[in-house]
Amino acid sequence: MRMRNPFRYGSRVTGGAFFDRERIIRDMLDVIDGGNNIVLYGPRRYGKSSLVGEIMSRLRGKGWVCAEVNLMDVASLEDFVSQYARALYREASPVVGTIRHVAGLFKRVTPAVSISDDGRPELKFEISSRKAGVAALRDVLELPAKICPAGRTLVVFDEFQEVESLGLGQQFERTMRSVIQNQPDIAYVFLGSKTHMLERMFASPSRPFYNSAQKFMLSRPPVEESRRFVVERFRSVGISISEPLAEKVVTLAGNVPYYVQAVSSWVYGTVAGGRSKTVRSADVDEAFHSFYATETILLESVFASRPESQRLLMRALAKEPSARFDETYRDRHSLPSTSTVNTALRRLVKESIVESQNGVYTLADPLLAYHLASK
Ligand SMILES: Nc1ncnc2c1ncn2[C@@H]1O[C@H](COP(=O)(O)OP(=O)(O)OP(=O)(O)O)[C@@H](O)[C@H]1O
Ligand SMILES: [Mg+2]
Repeated sequence: MRMRNPFRYGSRVTGGAFFDRERIIRDMLDVIDGGNNIVLYGPRRYGKSSLVGEIMSRLRGKGWVCAEVNLMDVASLEDFVSQYARALYREASPVVGTIRHVAGLFKRVTPAVSISDDGRPELKFEISSRKAGVAALRDVLELPAKICPAGRTLVVFDEFQEVESLGLGQQFERTMRSVIQNQPDIAYVFLGSKTHMLERMFASPSRPFYNSAQKFMLSRPPVEESRRFVVERFRSVGISISEPLAEKVVTLAGNVPYYVQAVSSWVYGTVAGGRSKTVRSADVDEAFHSFYATETILLESVFASRPESQRLLMRALAKEPSARFDETYRDRHSLPSTSTVNTALRRLVKESIVESQNGVYTLADPLLAYHLASK
């Protein structure tokens, strides 16, 4: 039997590579069904994009139109208009019919067909006049309400905080907010990997998106779910791993989905070539250390880029997660004064480098914690 690595990490996962999240999926679907908007927060690599991808695929299965733009791939306002129009058209065209119909709805955007590098026709949307920028934005933002089915349309903006880098100041946010608040039948999900920027957009009273979406927070999955996933995925390719060893994988991975998949993938690589189809403890150790070795330069650069007070606190938290930083804790870890520590903590929490779990502060990235604890 030819085996294939059953673990995926790096990009969005769906189907069999996706586990758990049933509860939050149900809750988010309820909100979406009610026509309300969502902002989804969570630390890096916890699975926000995958979760929203899973939600879209379930909704599509029920006949919904789901369109998505990742703002990380957008270079300018014109590019946004073009990409968003294309996404909407692609998703909605089976429902709405011809391009002529869609084109008639645009005042300042012209659809054009060009030939892509690989010789296939490609649909582009161009803004008729450069000056028409914000008006064209309005055109395209109004599109879902015109061409998509009411009560069965979801629009997703991933890495939404990146609208700040389009150079329009808050005009983009203001325009978008004013258009979408008149679209009660279209549901929107906003998410991104820079929690502090998203939070500023949705939680400061001075910003256009203040209080405009229901907040969801993605945390780590239950350990048992992660463990079961590891056991079952190995089993699906004829490899057996004991519950305690699967638990060890999950612990080494800090139970962060990305690392659970990454460490498992390296374990698979260690075992798959050999004769025994049973994972041993030494395989897990070997795999973890090989994986860790490929990541150290990156981890070190994350660490080195922080100011000294933050570095001290990061190293302390790597060794000893804590709810409080009293004198004995500060002495133990040679930390500076309370106020300096508090300032550093606020910054690190804002940038999702440090996370509070039931009031206890820990590093959000388990591999970084491992790296710093072993320094
Ligand atoms: N529900 C899940 N089941 C299994 N693996 C998952 C799940 N969610 C995430 N992962 C793993 O984590 C990786 C990262 O997932 P994803 O890109 O969805 O995270 P993210 O929170 O959007 O990350 P970022 O903050 O970098 O945008 C995936 O490639 C996959 O390996
Ligand atoms: Mg993501």
